[in-house]
Amino acid sequence: MKIIIHESYEEMSVAAARVVAQTLNSKPNAVLGLATGSTPLSLYEELVRMHREEGLDFSQVTTFNLDEYVGLTRDHEQSYHYFMREHLFRHINISPTNIYIPSGTTDNYEAFCAWYERRIVECGGIDLQILGIGSDGHIAFNEPSSSLGSRTRIKTLAKITIEDNARFFEREADVPIYAITMGVGTILEARKIVLVANGKNKADAVAQAIEGPVTSMITASALQLHRDTEIYLDRAAAGNLKMIDYYDWIQAKGPAAPTTEHWRADEAHAQGTDAAAHAAREHSRETT
Ligand code: F6R
Repeated sequence: MKIIIHESYEEMSVAAARVVAQTLNSKPNAVLGLATGSTPLSLYEELVRMHREEGLDFSQVTTFNLDEYVGLTRDHEQSYHYFMREHLFRHINISPTNIYIPSGTTDNYEAFCAWYERRIVECGGIDLQILGIGSDGHIAFNEPSSSLGSRTRIKTLAKITIEDNARFFEREADVPIYAITMGVGTILEARKIVLVANGKNKADAVAQAIEGPVTSMITASALQLHRDTEIYLDRAAAGNLKMIDYYDWIQAKGPAAPTTEHWRADEAHAQGTDAAAHAAREHSRETT
């Protein structure tokens, strides 16, 4: 797990957007997993800027969104279909046929969920999954006590999530109670994961996810089991991390692994040292 702490939300978002850009530059037909909510807003803004100003190309990209509220039509202003259209899709050159978002209005959820899982596999699996984190430690809508092996399904939202998300609706009573969401197991199959979190209200959940035990009570903690996860935080969200000095230290020191050149130089040095030691031994044998 790589923990990258930036001083501001904007810097954090730009850094995370760069990971998306690198993915697309090395694999133009990459499959992206996308999140909604306030956290990735600035990341999406940066992707739109990169598309407009630097030609970042989405023409071959496929996307799968994490979740959708049950009961909201795709044109409902609080639906995640609407969110994605407004904040990303209508600003970039992605093909509408390559966009997948769970349906909040299907008449057969079980069949839909099975199809969504199948479609991800048929498209080659998710190369890069973007995640936010709930204040109860959820990823997607995998609320506390969700199985860490769970797949796409309907979940009942936790009270705290309903309260947190009430800010987007006119009244708390308007927040849907159910959501269709990728499971923790689905998410863990992504090849690379980038989680973004900002603000003091996420500091507890972030600390538990990174430094606490792996537990279904904080589903983001399951990311500890993933081999290529990067966590991008602003200073406030990193506020409760016990090892914060260590993460800052790693960041200041640069890449953890020496480059091939380093290895070669070390090897040559070791061989040279061995040769010198051997010569010294021979010399002392000859002179005694
Ligand atoms: C949204 C999603 C959720 C959010 C989380 C944080 O697609 O999957 O897990 O990432 O609830 O939401 P914000 O960013 O609004 O704090």
